[in-house]
Amino acid sequence: MKKICFIAFLIIIVSPTIYAKQSNARYHLLMDRGWKFFLGDDKNASTVDFNDQSWRILDLPHDWSIEGEFKKGEATGGGGGYLPTGIGWYRKQFVLPSLVRGKQVSIQFDGIYMNSEVWVNNHYLGKRPNGYISFVYDLTPYLLPGKNTIAVKVDNSVQPNSRWYSGSGIYRHVWLNITNPLHIAQWGTYVTTPEVSAAAATVSVKTKIENNSADAGKGTLISEILDESGHQVASEETAVSLSAKASDSFSQQIQVRLPALWSVDSPHLYKLHSIIKSGSKTIDDFQSTFGIRNIEYSAVNGFVLNGKRLKMNGVCLHHDGGCVGAAVPVKIWEARLKLLKDMGCNAIRTSHNPVAPEVLDLCDKMGFLVMDEAFDAWETGKVINDYHVYFDEWSQIDLTGQIHRDRNHPSIVLWSAGNEIPDQTKDKGVELLKGLLATFHREDPTRPVTTANDDIAADSNSTKLAFMEAEDIVGYNYVDRWHERRELFYSLDRYDHPNLKMIGTESESLRNPREDSLGSDKNKVHPNYLSGMIRTEQLWKFVAVHDYVIGDFMWTGIDYLGEARWPNKGSISGEIDMTNRPKDGYYFYQSQWTGKPVLHLFPHWNWAGREGQIIPVVAYTNCDSVELFVNGKSYGVKVQEFPRQGNAYAWNRYAKPYVNITTADLHLSWDVVYEPGTLKAVGRKNGKQVIIDEIITAGKPYALKISTDSGKVNADGNDVALIYVDVVDDKGNVVPNAHNLVNFSITGNGKLIGVDNGDQRDTNSFRLKYREAFKGHVYAVIQADRKPGNINVTAQADGLIQTSVKIETSKNNSSVLSFDDFK
Ligand code: GAL
Repeated sequence: MKKICFIAFLIIIVSPTIYAKQSNARYHLLMDRGWKFFLGDDKNASTVDFNDQSWRILDLPHDWSIEGEFKKGEATGGGGGYLPTGIGWYRKQFVLPSLVRGKQVSIQFDGIYMNSEVWVNNHYLGKRPNGYISFVYDLTPYLLPGKNTIAVKVDNSVQPNSRWYSGSGIYRHVWLNITNPLHIAQWGTYVTTPEVSAAAATVSVKTKIENNSADAGKGTLISEILDESGHQVASEETAVSLSAKASDSFSQQIQVRLPALWSVDSPHLYKLHSIIKSGSKTIDDFQSTFGIRNIEYSAVNGFVLNGKRLKMNGVCLHHDGGCVGAAVPVKIWEARLKLLKDMGCNAIRTSHNPVAPEVLDLCDKMGFLVMDEAFDAWETGKVINDYHVYFDEWSQIDLTGQIHRDRNHPSIVLWSAGNEIPDQTKDKGVELLKGLLATFHREDPTRPVTTANDDIAADSNSTKLAFMEAEDIVGYNYVDRWHERRELFYSLDRYDHPNLKMIGTESESLRNPREDSLGSDKNKVHPNYLSGMIRTEQLWKFVAVHDYVIGDFMWTGIDYLGEARWPNKGSISGEIDMTNRPKDGYYFYQSQWTGKPVLHLFPHWNWAGREGQIIPVVAYTNCDSVELFVNGKSYGVKVQEFPRQGNAYAWNRYAKPYVNITTADLHLSWDVVYEPGTLKAVGRKNGKQVIIDEIITAGKPYALKISTDSGKVNADGNDVALIYVDVVDDKGNVVPNAHNLVNFSITGNGKLIGVDNGDQRDTNSFRLKYREAFKGHVYAVIQADRKPGNINVTAQADGLIQTSVKIETSKNNSSVLSFDDFK
C-alpha cells in the first residue's frame, strides 16, 4: 500500500484525568450464539439457499469430538485420544442493524480445528489449515441489507494429524468487528516498553491505520495510557493522513512517570486507549492491554525481570480443558492457573501451539511468564498428516498472525518456534530456523526465540551446532537424557559453549502414583512412587543453583487428552489431574517453588490386607524438620535441607541455627509397618510447629459431599460452575479407594456439559450423567443458560447419603457485548 507521510507532535498530559466512556465508533461483538451444525459433509451447504432446517442449533465454542464415544479403533488413534473426528458444517444467518451501513465489518475466528473454509453470501472467503491460529475475514464487500449467511466447513477427517487431542469444530470464540472505513487495523497496535526504570518508562506505540474508503482520510491519532483504575497517566497525539485505500503505521513514544511495573508477583496492567478523531468526531476507539516491564536474558544470570534474576518455574500445558475438550470455558482456565500459581509455578509453555487469547489475558492478570510456542513440526512430520503438510505454504502466514495477535501481552517473555522439530538434526533445519527467526525478529524484536530441542547430544543424529548457535536461547528437552548428562546436565555444553543462553524447555515431572501405587501383588510392597523422585530432584537441584539455567518447564502441569495407549485415553504426566485435583507431585514443586510452609504426606492409608507390611511414607516439605507419628507413636524426626548452608562468619558458624540433616533428597521418608489409623506429620521451622498433615484410614463409603468453586455464575450461556464430589465415610474422611457410581441430576437454569473422575483408563463418554468415583472423587461441569435464576445440582449414589448444591445464576454482567443483544 502507498505510504503517506505524517507529522507527529507530542502532548504529555501531566495531571491524570478520568478515562471517559468509550464512543460507539467500533464494536467487538461476540458471535457465538445460535449457529446451525451438521456433522457430515454436504457439498451444497455453503450456499445461501441451502436448507439447514434439520440441523442442530447450538452456541459456540463447540467441539464435536468431545461429544463422541471413545473407541479403540478411532482414526485419531491414541494420539487424538480415541475420539471421533470427521467433517462438520456450521451456518449462521443474521441481519445487521441499520447503523452498520457504510461500516467495515469483519469476522474473527479465534480458532477452528481444522482445515476451515468460510463463505459469506455465496462468496468464498478462504481456508486456514492450521487449527490453532486466529484469523479474520473482511465481510464488507459481500454484506447485504437483509439476511446474511455465513457457512463454515471444518475438515478434521484426514487422520492422524496430531500427537495429542485437538478437538474438532469452531472450538474458540467468534467475533464480529465493526469499524469505520478509517480504522486501526486488526491486531494493529504494538506496544513495547524499551526503557523502564522506577522513575519513568518509555512506552513505544506503533499503530497501523487502514483507510478502506474511496476518499482520502484525515484525523488525529490520540494514544492515551490508562492505569488500572482507568486514570489517564499520559497521552500523545499524532496527525494522520491517508489517501484512499491506503494504510500506514504511526509511531509514538510516550513517557509514563512512576510506572507500576508488571511482574509475576504484582502483575500491574495498563491500557493503551487509541482514538482516531476527525474534528470532534470519534472515528475509532480501541483498547489494548499491556504491561510495563523490562526483560533481559544472559548466559551468566539467566532471566532477569525488572533488574532482578528470576528462575522460571514452569510447566508445559496442552490446550484441552479435560472433559469439556477443546472448547474450554474461561472459568476452567482460571481454576487451573490458580492451582498452578499456588504450586509456585510462574511460567507456562503453550505446548505446542498458540492458545486461546483469553488464556494469555489470564496469564497477564495472574502474573505468569509465557513461552508462546508456534509449531510441533516444520518440514518433517511426526504423524502422517500433521502440520508438515502445510508448513511450506502456511508457516510464515500463521506465524506472523500469531505474533501480531500476541505481542502486546506482557506475560509473553519468550517465543518458541517449535517443539522437538526433527529438522533440528539436518542442514535444511538451520535454514528453516533462520527463516522463522527472521519473522520473529522483524515482527517483535523485543523477545528472544528458542526451540525445544530433544536431540542435543543424541548418540545418533544430534542437533546441529549451527542450529543451536542460531537460536537466541537454546532450549533443552530432557537435558539429562544422554550418558553422563544424567549427572552433569547443562554443564557440559556450558563448558564447551559458554556464550549460549540455556533453558530447560521440557523435563519429566513427577509421574502420578496411581491408587495401586504399592503394586498389584498384595503380598509384596512395590512402591512405584519412589524412583521417579530421584530424577526430578537431582535435576531440580542443578537448575535451582545454577543461575545461567533460565528455568525449566515440566511435562506437564495438567493431565491432558491424547498421547495415550488404550485403555488409557490421555496422559497422566500432570501434577494436576483432569478434574483439577492436585496429585502428590504437586506438593513437591510447591515445597521447592514457594516460601509458605508445605507439608504433604502420601500414600493414602487404606491398605486393608497389607497389615504388618512395611510401607514407605513420604513427605514433601520445606520445613526445617518433620516428625511422623503413627497412631500416636513417633517414627522419628527427619530433616532435609536444600540448599545446604555453608559456614558463615567463621568456621563452624551458621547464619541460621544448624540442624542435623538426615537426607540429601528433597523428600523425607519413613518405613512404616502398616496398621490402620492415623498418620500425622508435624512440620517445624526454627523449632516451632508451623504445619501439620494427617491421613486417616477411612471407613466404608457413607455419604457424598459436594462443593463448587463458585456459588454464583454469570447467566451468559457460557459461564460454568465446577462441581467436586467426594465419597466420604461417616466421619467425613474421603474414602481413597471408593468406586461408587455417582449420578448427577440438574434442574433449573443450567446443564451438565461434562463429567469426569481423573482416571485416564475410564473410557466412558464425558457426556453421561454419571461416573464411577476414582480415588473417591467425581467432577462435573455445569453451564448456565441465559436466564438469571438457580441451578440445583444433586449427586446421588446407591446406598450413600446424597448431596446437593444450589448455584445462583445472575444477570449477565459481562462487559462483552453479544451480537444478538446489539441493537
Ligand atoms: C516430549 C514431547 C511432548 C510429549 C512428551 C511426552 O518428548 O515434546 O510433546 O510428547 O514427550 O512425554
